[in-house]
Amino acid sequence: MNEQDRHKKQAAEKAVEYIEDGMIIGLGTGSTTTFAVRKIAQLIKARSLQKIQAIPSSKRTERLAKRLHIPLTDFSKVTQIDLTIDGADEVDSRLNLIKGGGGALLREKILIQASKRVIIIVDETKVSKKLGTSWPIPIEVLPFAWEVEARFLKSLRAKPTLRRDARKKPYLTDQKNYILDAEFSQIKDPEVLNSKLNQRAGIIEHGLFVEMVTDIIVAGAKGITHLKKYDL
Ligand code: A5P
Repeated sequence: MNEQDRHKKQAAEKAVEYIEDGMIIGLGTGSTTTFAVRKIAQLIKARSLQKIQAIPSSKRTERLAKRLHIPLTDFSKVTQIDLTIDGADEVDSRLNLIKGGGGALLREKILIQASKRVIIIVDETKVSKKLGTSWPIPIEVLPFAWEVEARFLKSLRAKPTLRRDARKKPYLTDQKNYILDAEFSQIKDPEVLNSKLNQRAGIIEHGLFVEMVTDIIVAGAKGITHLKKYDL
């Protein structure tokens, strides 16, 4: 395992310590979250967690959770999640995030909005002074509208690229929408951009998460840092 993966694992396992038996857990998507999902499965197997149930944020995480025998539930049976654990592509010190590198941003945002507590787990390479410096904002668009929304994004001085799969076909989300990866270089005001993107009919959801999470756990060479909303 390389150093970055070791840090991802450390952040993930720290977050899992906050799970209490009986909780409804939201499971994010991505390589960092996979370490958390594996740890949860180990604790279930060891009977340290006997009554948790989880809601996955993507078909990919659902397959992984099923393979590892994690009991799953959905929003027809529960309306609130106690704790969601998820990764991110870029985070700032105000607990704002860019997410959606793995394409699961819509369901991830739904899980986060339904959660009492949200712990984001990242290695130190994801920490940024200004969001947008190292990652584009993934924007899930209706296929019908993608060219129109690309033009809108250009009017905001972004450089949008239609995400493609390995066969060079447009990448399809779990909802069968497209993704435009929009480079903004540096985002001056995440709140203003958030509300501009929220107003577009063809934009189903976007990967800018402004003040939506309660905790970020960062693991790096100097150890673990835990940022909490109530400390800001
Ligand atoms: C998935 O859609 C994303 O929001 C992920 O949470 C994000 O891309 C982080 O992935 P890694 O943990 O693989 O870096």
